[in-house]
Amino acid sequence: MVTKGDVMKALEKVMDPELGRNIVDLNMVRRAEVEGDRVTVEVALTVPECPLSAQIENDTREAVRRVPGVKEANIIMGAMTDEEREAAYAKVREGYQKQGKGAHPAVEVEPLKLGMSDVFAGVKILAIGSGKGGVGKSTVSANLAVALAAEGVKVGLLDADIYGFSIPRILGLLDVQPTVLDENTLLPIQAYGVKLISMGNFLQEDTPVIWRGPLLIKMIEQFLNDVDWGELDYFLIDLPPGTGDVPLTIMQKFPESRLLLVTTPQETSVHVASRTAHMAQKTNIRITGIIENMAYFVCPHCGERTEIFGHGGTERMASELGVPILGRIPIEVSLREGGDIGRPVLATAPQSTSAQVFREMAQKIINEKI
Ligand SMILES: Nc1ncnc2c1ncn2[C@@H]1O[C@H](COP(=O)(O)OP(=O)(O)O)[C@@H](O)[C@H]1O
Ligand SMILES: [Mg+2]
Repeated sequence: MVTKGDVMKALEKVMDPELGRNIVDLNMVRRAEVEGDRVTVEVALTVPECPLSAQIENDTREAVRRVPGVKEANIIMGAMTDEEREAAYAKVREGYQKQGKGAHPAVEVEPLKLGMSDVFAGVKILAIGSGKGGVGKSTVSANLAVALAAEGVKVGLLDADIYGFSIPRILGLLDVQPTVLDENTLLPIQAYGVKLISMGNFLQEDTPVIWRGPLLIKMIEQFLNDVDWGELDYFLIDLPPGTGDVPLTIMQKFPESRLLLVTTPQETSVHVASRTAHMAQKTNIRITGIIENMAYFVCPHCGERTEIFGHGGTERMASELGVPILGRIPIEVSLREGGDIGRPVLATAPQSTSAQVFREMAQKIINEKI
């Protein structure tokens, strides 16, 4: 007979590689249920978009499978609440202090050491966020930056999505290295009038990125301190998805920034985007607009319009938050292709609906001083 005790004992061997403690110790095991020879375990990660998720999931499954008598191991991955995460971090911190060690690199977020007022004085900062990945946040960030530049304003773009950096590909800047002027000066790379800095220009696309939180913040600090952005009117930031520490910290670093939320009309996307919105409100970041992506698809053959991801969720969120929907971008092959080949839709298909929507949004942002 398999008991819950056996399972918990086995789970004590599963480590969070970064925090250096086992998942039982960190209270990451939400649930462990035994039904005969079937075991269900739910693990809550400290950060939802944790790059170590697959490893922890595999280790958990292996550990449960090795318990004598277990035939089936069902592992469910979830994420901790803010309070749970703080409690887990507090434990790590305490353990570190007991051993007389300093700050744990994955737990302590250091404030940005930055004379931000000098570098970004008068620059309008637009952070582009989403509740989850895959909704087109990077596609929107890159194309909006190109559209703004096409209107004649000076645009910088920071690809802060270290886990899923994709802007260099979208702008055709893969394998382009920023020029290093001297030890402390890096020049951003440029395409379509947009100045860009991205982790993607320092790493290969398939490099496993296991940095989290604070290391990323350090990297971003360096991007902001050491990059000579020159004169800018707008500074766009492609945030990592979700409500993890990283997007939160970045937003806090730019108290003057405005948040643009990207969502699809689908309920789950709207739901998670609302969570990001509430996080922003907690830190007093103003949300200036919602961009609905993948709003609909028009069949190129018969012209019929299909709302692939449904309808209505975005409106509800807009009215709940009291912010406008800046634009609705359809699902278009030319937009996706542009991203794949590194030539934005504004250049390849300027008459397409998505190109038009990007132009209109850029004009709104400039004219309404968003
Ligand atoms: N409106 C759209 N029409 C067609 N493809 C899109 C659209 N928006 C995004 N995509 C495609 O969906 C994928 C995910 O988009 P991406 O911008 O990388 O999302 P995120 O940054 O939110 O993870 C990409 O392959 C992109 O080309
Ligand atoms: Mg992205």
